Amino acid sequence: MQVARTPADLRAVIAGWQRQGQSVGLVPTMGALHEGHLSLVTLAKQKADRAVATIFVNPAQFGPNEDFQRYPRQEDADLALLESAGCDLAYLPGVEVMYPKDFATSITVAGVSQGLCGDCRPGHFAGVATVVTKLLLQALPDLAVFGEKDYQQLQVIKRLVADLDIPVRILGAPTLREADGLAKSSRNAYLTPEERRLAPLLFRQLSQAAQRIHDGAGATETCRDVIRALLAAGFDKADYVEVRDAATLAAIEHAKGPARILAALWLGRTRLIDNLPID
Ligand code: PAJ
Repeated sequence: MQVARTPADLRAVIAGWQRQGQSVGLVPTMGALHEGHLSLVTLAKQKADRAVATIFVNPAQFGPNEDFQRYPRQEDADLALLESAGCDLAYLPGVEVMYPKDFATSITVAGVSQGLCGDCRPGHFAGVATVVTKLLLQALPDLAVFGEKDYQQLQVIKRLVADLDIPVRILGAPTLREADGLAKSSRNAYLTPEERRLAPLLFRQLSQAAQRIHDGAGATETCRDVIRALLAAGFDKADYVEVRDAATLAAIEHAKGPARILAALWLGRTRLIDNLPID
């Protein structure tokens, strides 16, 4: 596996492959890789001739009181994992490469960025949209893969790629889970043993709620019940549990077409997010 640390090196390798007629799939990450990330690399390799993963803990998408400083960093382990997953190139730009001193541009995506995590984490999706736009333009891949685990992020990225005419196909990949249902996440490492025991309740509650709403129950009451059950079980705070249209993320009370139930709650100092389809 090759490693690049500057846009010029990244582009040189990718352009070389594309000149030979090989297609390239990009997998942006912030590192601290787990099997969920690696499943995106596997999908990229299935859909393209070459897979490129990026590792960059993007300061622009963290709020001032968020976990940027303590976000897990493990470059050597991540490179070994990428290599074992069949990744062809890892791109690890430094902060000064991505955000030079005079950097002044921010991409904001209206509509899908609003509500849900957009309300709880002001500026978060502008930070994501800006860095993903940069990574896509630096790499110019044929396709890029993002997880449904971050469902609102996936919709934001699909919107910006369409709106800015970025010539790349965006693929969504299913959420990989632990055996007990907990969505795999780099932030699961923050959980104490007691919190880890409680964490899969989020998936279980969302699964039951998705079934109830599918069977005709109202979204408002069902989401309220999910929050009540999780707080009673020991979760500390609910940012939101909501039902949205699967494509536009518009709020809905009854699922007529494809819908999604999405949630963000706190267990101690750890914010867990998850979402499931209602169909
Ligand atoms: P990160 O949280 O590292 O996630 C990188 C990619 O892995 C995202 O597309 C995310 O949705 C996906 N992913 C995370 N957990 C997953 C799981 N359990 N199953 C399947 N896919 C999973 O998301 C980001 O980084 C950043 O916001 C980024 C897009 C890289 C921009 O900085």
